[in-house]
Amino acid sequence: MAHVPVLTEEVMKFLDPKPGDNFIDCTLGDGGHTAAILHLTAPKGKVLGFDLDSDAIKVARKNLESFGSRLVARNESYANLAKAVAEENFGPVAGVLMDFGFSSPQLEDRNRGFSFQRDEPLDMSYSTQPGHTTAAEIVNTWTKDEIIRVLAEYGEEHLAERIASGIVTARHHKHIISTVQLTDIIKSAVPKNYEHGRIHPATRTFQALRIAVNDELGSVEKVLPQALSAIKPGGRLVCISFHSLEDRLVKTFFKEMSAAHKIEILTPKPVTATEKEIQNNPRSRSAKLRAALIK
Ligand SMILES: C[S@@+](CC[C@H](N)C(=O)[O-])C[C@H]1O[C@@H](n2cnc3c(N)ncnc32)[C@H](O)[C@@H]1O
Repeated sequence: MAHVPVLTEEVMKFLDPKPGDNFIDCTLGDGGHTAAILHLTAPKGKVLGFDLDSDAIKVARKNLESFGSRLVARNESYANLAKAVAEENFGPVAGVLMDFGFSSPQLEDRNRGFSFQRDEPLDMSYSTQPGHTTAAEIVNTWTKDEIIRVLAEYGEEHLAERIASGIVTARHHKHIISTVQLTDIIKSAVPKNYEHGRIHPATRTFQALRIAVNDELGSVEKVLPQALSAIKPGGRLVCISFHSLEDRLVKTFFKEMSAAHKIEILTPKPVTATEKEIQNNPRSRSAKLRAALIK
């Protein structure tokens, strides 16, 4: 399934790309937002794009082939932004975009184990490099207390203790290696009327494990100051978050930088998708965009 970029109009309004400007896209994905930026910065503007997923890099390179060398794509974490900018001799830029989380093809086609609605290996990493941490490693080897902490902190799961007990009991009998196995364990550990049926019982656990596997919050904390240093005065920083923990980090960083007179916040409240966009792209429902002008 192709990824439909979220809040594209709003992203372009806040980034405000002009011909010849250079930008950084921390989360290139399949290149949807970057395509829009490259159109607006023609004929010479460039984008330095990051993605941990080599499949995304391949698809983005293909989708953006017509822009030639105006796309500089790096298959690595955006947490390495400052080093990459120095290596590519790329800064200072007119703006940086971050569109956190996973893409639709990662959820649906790339066998990553992000979805409890598919039977896939319990991986959950954005990275395609060998040796990365996996969700299977966490559920099979971390202590019960560590699993409780992950589920409570990153999933805001009230039943963290019950689910962690279920996991620890199940792994004594059989290694937990698939999404279906884990989903069944969670379903047996929680009451039948979990959250009154509002969300699937595995939703919070899957979110928590994905955040832990990818150190998502640590990466966001690392990239924000690096991004700020890469942007020239008058440039823009735009961040799209999909869960409250991520959004809180962005909000706090913006507040601190604003108090230090380093940025002007352009979005007193986060910008969200219109009803029309949500209808066309349900994924946009949880997106929150925050933007800042660099002083
Ligand atoms: C929501 S998608 C981005 C979609 C993109 N804006 C588009 O229009 O196609 C998020 C992407 O960020 C990547 N990602 C997640 N964490 C990352 C990290 N620490 N470093 C680099 N890429 C990361 C994921 O692999 C995924 O492809």
